[in-house]
Amino acid sequence: MTSRQDPLLTAHDLRKAYGPTTALDGAHFSIGAGEVVAVMGPSGSGKSTLLHCLAGIVPPDSGTITYQGRELSALNDTGRSALRRSEFGFVFQFGQLVPELTCLENVALPLRLNGTGRKQARQTALTWLRRLEVDDSADQRPGEVSGGQGQRVAVARALVTEPRILFADEPTGALDSLNGERVMELLTGAARSTGAAVVLVTHEARVAAYADRDVVVRDGKSRDMEPVA
Ligand SMILES: Nc1ncnc2c1ncn2[C@@H]1O[C@H](COP(=O)(O)OP(=O)(O)O)[C@@H](O)[C@H]1O
Ligand SMILES: [Mg+2]
Repeated sequence: MTSRQDPLLTAHDLRKAYGPTTALDGAHFSIGAGEVVAVMGPSGSGKSTLLHCLAGIVPPDSGTITYQGRELSALNDTGRSALRRSEFGFVFQFGQLVPELTCLENVALPLRLNGTGRKQARQTALTWLRRLEVDDSADQRPGEVSGGQGQRVAVARALVTEPRILFADEPTGALDSLNGERVMELLTGAARSTGAAVVLVTHEARVAAYADRDVVVRDGKSRDMEPVA
């Protein structure tokens, strides 16, 4: 089993600028298998940039990111997207579901893209909608369901491939507190049941309360356990 001495994903001294704006200015991060870590900090502090770097979506200007002993910078675009598709899941503030597909089809989509047959994909997707208590919306389109229901569908879609890491950027940021709490309960419960680690970006303490520990980002800097050499 992976332990704190042998983290799943680590980042060391990440720096990233957008023109004159410094988004990351020496960010450190690590997460172990199955761990739920909240990335906290005020708006504009660099949380989303850190998440995008960790997930291989945005390359940092400098610093290293290591996933299961492999440096992300050593992978090309194709390698990074293959990693994202097979090992990572994503939930964003606004579900970003495909509006033309039903909720069931949205959840089945990642499985179809990975080569799972249509019938099996739909069955597995329905199981996930049930786990997130949103199977009543299976045949509805995202535009026809509430924000809380849409986020539960988005969580189901992110976990349906059983990723090693779930990246969630302000997943309850557009919800009222009651719906937000429910989504957090279901998200962390489902992630723990599959053993997925969760990188949870939030500026709300009540959302961070669902995490095992916090990493605070301020002015693009974060301190976390340095990877063991
Ligand atoms: N694509 C981008 N282009 C230009 N500036 C950006 C971009 N993404 C982030 N920034 C800037 O980098 C800083 C950190 O942003 P971000 O990582 O989104 O912070 P947070 O998620 O904590 O609100 C902010 O000043 C933001 O305006
Ligand atoms: Mg952000």
